[in-house]
Amino acid sequence: MNIIVITGASSGLGREFALQLNKMHYVADEVWLIARRSDRLEALSKELSYPCERLTIDLSKEEDLNQYKKLLEKKNPVIQILINCAGFGYVGGFQTISYEQQSSMIDLNCRALSQMTYLSLPYMKENSRILQLASSAAFMPQPGFAVYAASKAYVLSFSRAITEELRKQKIYVTTVCPGPIRTEFFELAEQYGSSFTLKKYTMVEAPQVVKAALQASKRKKELSVYGIPMKCFFVISKILPHKLLLVLLRFMK
Ligand SMILES: NC(=O)c1ccc[n+]([C@@H]2O[C@H](COP(=O)([O-])OP(=O)(O)OC[C@H]3O[C@@H](n4cnc5c(N)ncnc54)[C@H](OP(=O)(O)O)[C@@H]3O)[C@@H](O)[C@H]2O)c1
Repeated sequence: MNIIVITGASSGLGREFALQLNKMHYVADEVWLIARRSDRLEALSKELSYPCERLTIDLSKEEDLNQYKKLLEKKNPVIQILINCAGFGYVGGFQTISYEQQSSMIDLNCRALSQMTYLSLPYMKENSRILQLASSAAFMPQPGFAVYAASKAYVLSFSRAITEELRKQKIYVTTVCPGPIRTEFFELAEQYGSSFTLKKYTMVEAPQVVKAALQASKRKKELSVYGIPMKCFFVISKILPHKLLLVLLRFMK
């Protein structure tokens, strides 16, 4: 049985990945949709022509991840595509957000993503693919978004490393690094502070980002950075010292 696994499928990019794979008639026997809101997963599964397995789990809880492990053991599928989309961030100074909330970002964005990848790999074969949702926030440290940016730098570094490790097995990893996208993400993110104004002008729509990410994955590309502003930001963050960029950022705010 060939399957697609999508975390964060209840909204935003995760939901869009499911819809676009469905629209392009990507061949799979089942899609496994993972998130906490069961009503959203149920509604999405009705829109898809694939048989769906819905896992209403909290990925930041070790015991919940065990349910995924058990389902894999029971069904013994081949994972054709794993899309690690679940993630969130809080905008605001490091001292203004509780430590529990800061560490919950690390739990989901870093630990759960790594564990999902680890649990899934034994069920992957030649030509299986992984899409890891990092962010352009991974490109440099971001004061006022410190833990989120650091968590995405982890995703980028971790994913690029395993891209190399998995090359011999012909399992292909694409790390997706978009800039701001209009999803529910900002409703949660801006509870404690507002985003840098420039981000609002570079906001893009989820379907474009997902389309580009799926194309990059199909072409076995290591990275997907959507849009000219983010491509420029990526290049600048490689060329200029981060210390200088941080000073420029101080004056742009
Ligand atoms: N939107 C942006 O501007 C942007 C930019 C760059 C990168 N990204 C990254 O893209 C990914 C998707 O973001 P999005 O924009 O689609 O945001 P979103 O619409 O808020 O979706 C986040 C998804 O993660 C799931 N999730 C959150 N906490 C979870 C938990 N503890 N256990 C299981 N699932 C959980 C949510 O489902 P439930 O609430 O139902 O659990 C939801 O489906 C994230 O990793 C984000 O960091 C977003």
